[in-house]
Amino acid sequence: MITRATQRIAIEGQVVSHRAVGENETLRQRIEIDLASGRIVSVEDAGDSPSATAADLVLGEGYWIFPGLVDLHVHAREDTTSLQCYKESFETAGLAAIHGGVTAFADMPNNPRPPVDDDSYGVKREIARRCPVDVLLYAGIGPRTRPLSFPAPYKAYMGPSVGDLYFESADALREALARYRGKRVSFHAEAPEVLERHRTAPTHAERRPAAAEAKAVDLAVRLSQDFGIEANICHLSTAEGLEHIRTARRRGVPVTCEVTPHHLFYDQDNAAGFAEPAFLQSNPPIRSRLDRIALLEAFREGGIDYLASDHAPHSLEENERGISGVPHLDTFGAFVFWLLDEGVSLRAVRLAAAERPGRFLSQFLPDLYGKVEKGFVGSLTILRREPQVVRRSGLKTRAGWSPFEGQSFSGRVSHTIVRGKIYPQIED
Ligand code: DOR
Ligand code: ZN
Ligand code: ZN
Repeated sequence: MITRATQRIAIEGQVVSHRAVGENETLRQRIEIDLASGRIVSVEDAGDSPSATAADLVLGEGYWIFPGLVDLHVHAREDTTSLQCYKESFETAGLAAIHGGVTAFADMPNNPRPPVDDDSYGVKREIARRCPVDVLLYAGIGPRTRPLSFPAPYKAYMGPSVGDLYFESADALREALARYRGKRVSFHAEAPEVLERHRTAPTHAERRPAAAEAKAVDLAVRLSQDFGIEANICHLSTAEGLEHIRTARRRGVPVTCEVTPHHLFYDQDNAAGFAEPAFLQSNPPIRSRLDRIALLEAFREGGIDYLASDHAPHSLEENERGISGVPHLDTFGAFVFWLLDEGVSLRAVRLAAAERPGRFLSQFLPDLYGKVEKGFVGSLTILRREPQVVRRSGLKTRAGWSPFEGQSFSGRVSHTIVRGKIYPQIED
């Protein structure tokens, strides 16, 4: 063991590196992290066998060292109203993140007291310091809000979902976005007019049809182009929405998109036999098989920018009562193996779950994220190919349940390293 006096830890193993050539390639490397700065101070190629100089952690066959996984879409729920904290807090969300191999996340602003100006954002940032992983806060955009005086990412709820921060019409949205020229804005894309027209439909999925997303994605792209906004579409769930994004990209509009584990894994057909349908209620809802396959295919082709979980830790009773959202942080790393088993390349996973979301954080936080490289933050996710069944008892989220309970994944998180601090993930 390297002594504390050196203030460094060393890790050696097979790194899923941006430097590796080819689709699935990895490099055997030795990484040193400085504990004081929490940054990577050296990355050197190691020989095929473990080197003579002992590292704190030497990883052999079957282990992969990823750049720390980053989840761009988390609802940690906590704000100054203690009202909702029984669900989750920055501390418990952070523990669930570490359990799931997530070393940093972006937190959504739809709190009872949303961060929409310098003061409310600053107050929430203080609370977020309790989180054991790095957090970037989104600022909310509402009908009467204005940009903050410092750089931050923004979130616009184009229609009602969870919380009061949303728009009731395209006109109101246009008027607000005009004040956010040149900013980075992520959109919850469901058009309020379409939701309203389907308000009395019998099922949750029918009340929030695919057409609502398609219309909203189209509008978000157009408004963003008008105002020079860098748009990101959250939790894309439909083939039609994807088509709008592709069309925009062909026109040279640089729009990005996220997909969640639940929209990649579940569809209206395969979820029909699911023991507890309420487990899967989310906005946007679980879609058709064709939608799901289109998203997975786009993921394989590199057309999905981010794997982002939309971790929404409502209690099971609340979910059954109709409050939408599913918890995911605990299972983020295990889900990577499902993607690999579905034919997604290691490279595509690294880009969508670490490098691109890492680059997003790096725009706003004082560190560099997303690569195993000197100068970058010393956060790593070590995954191991060893099957794991998701069990409720092992979860760290205060929500206390998972849409993947009973599901077997072909791999698991072995260690999560946050700024040089090693959290081994030992389970049954
Ligand atoms: O399912 C969802 N839950 N979708 C959202 O847009 C919000 C989220 C939440 O805040 O719980
Ligand atoms: Zn949303
Ligand atoms: Zn969300």
